[in-house]
Amino acid sequence: MNMPLLRVDNLHKQYGNVEILKGISFDLMRRETVAIIGPSGSGKSTCLRCINYLELPSIGHIYLEQEIIGEKKLRDGSLRRMNDTELAPQRQEIAMVFQLFYLWPHLTVRDNVAIGPMKVRGLSREQAYELADAMLDKVQMRHKADAYPDRLSGGQQQRVAIARALAQQPKVILFDEPTSALDPELVGEVLNVIKTLAQEDRSMILVTHEIRFAREVADRVIFMDGGKIIEQGTPQQVIDHPQHERTRCFLGQLESGYDLQGATV
Ligand SMILES: Nc1ncnc2c1ncn2[C@@H]1O[C@H](COP(=O)(O)OP(=O)(O)OP(=O)(O)O)[C@@H](O)[C@H]1O
Ligand SMILES: [Mg+2]
Repeated sequence: MNMPLLRVDNLHKQYGNVEILKGISFDLMRRETVAIIGPSGSGKSTCLRCINYLELPSIGHIYLEQEIIGEKKLRDGSLRRMNDTELAPQRQEIAMVFQLFYLWPHLTVRDNVAIGPMKVRGLSREQAYELADAMLDKVQMRHKADAYPDRLSGGQQQRVAIARALAQQPKVILFDEPTSALDPELVGEVLNVIKTLAQEDRSMILVTHEIRFAREVADRVIFMDGGKIIEQGTPQQVIDHPQHERTRCFLGQLESGYDLQGATV
């Protein structure tokens, strides 16, 4: 049976009177990388934040392996919002990597990665350090395990943040523009790590302005504008042969900055 790992079903989000998301629906299959692209303000971050319940959807539901996230089914069939304690195990299944890395400045790299597994999953320090070192290996940051974050470049900090997300052993990883706060020369090292994860067949949703990279690593691309999905399909369909004028216009504006057909990262 080919059931989606994650299902976003008719997601709406309203702030005050303003509707930011206007009915977003898509599936993430196991081992799939989905890239979300679209203009600034189109609701990409809001969508990711709703998926792991950092924001409450106004309407609609998120399902992880058919289980509804953030809501508990009562005996009479109605749904009740979960409290934070009830939500914690579900949140563990969906890791998020942000534009800014939010590492703890007073903890070493190793402790930054190990603290979650110790606090949330109850691993011993020894077990958590072993896990942290393995994850730091994956992002090629093991040699900095004893350093403090302020001694690292932005690209290195972001790689540690990715190791921290991996240490959560999540089913899904959400990336929200993980390279857009980085100096241009540091972007490649982070994209390389994400590419490796995509090649390992992890299940990921990647919001990015790096269109060339999306084209290279994504199995599917979603173009959002004005809180809606305008089109989705393979990178070839959406990026190389967009069907909608808005997609064409967005990609056209980017073209001056990116060489869509050019060499890959
Ligand atoms: N907490 C909030 N309260 C009110 N409005 C919000 C809030 N968060 C986001 N918005 C609005 O929602 C819209 C979508 O924002 P969002 O951050 O999701 O866009 P985005 O597609 O991620 O943009 P970018 O590419 O610039 O990151 C914007 O108009 C923003 O001002
Ligand atoms: Mg955003």
